[in-house]
Amino acid sequence: MAKIIVVTSGKGGVGKTTSAAAIATGLALRGNKTVVIDFDVGLRNLDLIMGCERRVVYDLINVIQGEAGLNQAMIRDKRVDNLHILPASQTRDKDALTEEGVERVLGSLSEEFDYIICDSPAGIERGAQLAMHFADEAVVVTNPEVSSVRDSDRILGLLSSKTRRAEKNQEPIKEHLLITRYDPMRVDSGDMLNLQDIQEILAINLIGLIPESEAVLRASNQGVPVTHDQQSDAGQAYVDTVSRLLGEDVPLRFHEAQKKGFLSRMFGGGRR
Ligand SMILES: Nc1ncnc2c1ncn2[C@@H]1O[C@H](COP(=O)(O)OP(=O)(O)OP(=O)(O)O)[C@@H](O)[C@H]1O
Ligand SMILES: [Mg+2]
Repeated sequence: MAKIIVVTSGKGGVGKTTSAAAIATGLALRGNKTVVIDFDVGLRNLDLIMGCERRVVYDLINVIQGEAGLNQAMIRDKRVDNLHILPASQTRDKDALTEEGVERVLGSLSEEFDYIICDSPAGIERGAQLAMHFADEAVVVTNPEVSSVRDSDRILGLLSSKTRRAEKNQEPIKEHLLITRYDPMRVDSGDMLNLQDIQEILAINLIGLIPESEAVLRASNQGVPVTHDQQSDAGQAYVDTVSRLLGEDVPLRFHEAQKKGFLSRMFGGGRR
């Protein structure tokens, strides 16, 4: 039986797709058979970030509507053996995504995979609710700003009331906070919320902190999940996050501003 993890946020553009791709890649690199599903019908970004957009023939909705089998629609990742992508449709009507259809697809994938990562669309409407409905765990992606934290709080409300685990009165979804685009300098200068404030408001377990990083843009332009860039701070932070998801105790990094060294203070280096 697979573990189903939804990557969700409420607010748009906070880093869900980046995180879904990076976490799925990290889980697969650790030897877990993993599939990452794009629930963002109409936008379809995950295949770009994973670098497989030219290989998309069939999608999630084709499978739900019986026009293609799962094995026809799933794309095998070119870099990691046990990683698969199930893309979203770019053109179809969002109503084609049904609860029964999603349940059927997740049921079949569950027999074959260790982890199913669901990349949620933005918002709190039907698409986002379907992406979280069958989840066992949720990664709530939050930026250090008030509007993002507020929307994450709304998502926590939905996770505990509108999901199958809630409806069936089962053990609640395990909720994890993933803070992304964290910039310690801007936190120190008061432009952004700090880690403690966010944790206090949302009051869920912190699974990771991803710094604001140019490596993310570089990775998405190249279609290579940032997890592969182990020289980068963001790549390392996603690896830490995956380790924690697997139950390991890993200290937090990248949450403090780098102190300037003696030489750069003396000579004001780095600006030329
Ligand atoms: N840690 C980071 N550092 C810098 N830029 C980042 C970081 N994480 C995400 N981004 C950038 O933020 C933008 C939005 O990221 P992404 O598409 O992953 O968000 P999303 O939550 O999936 O958006 P949507 O709600 O539209 O689906 C992208 O341009 C991405 O490159
Ligand atoms: Mg997205």
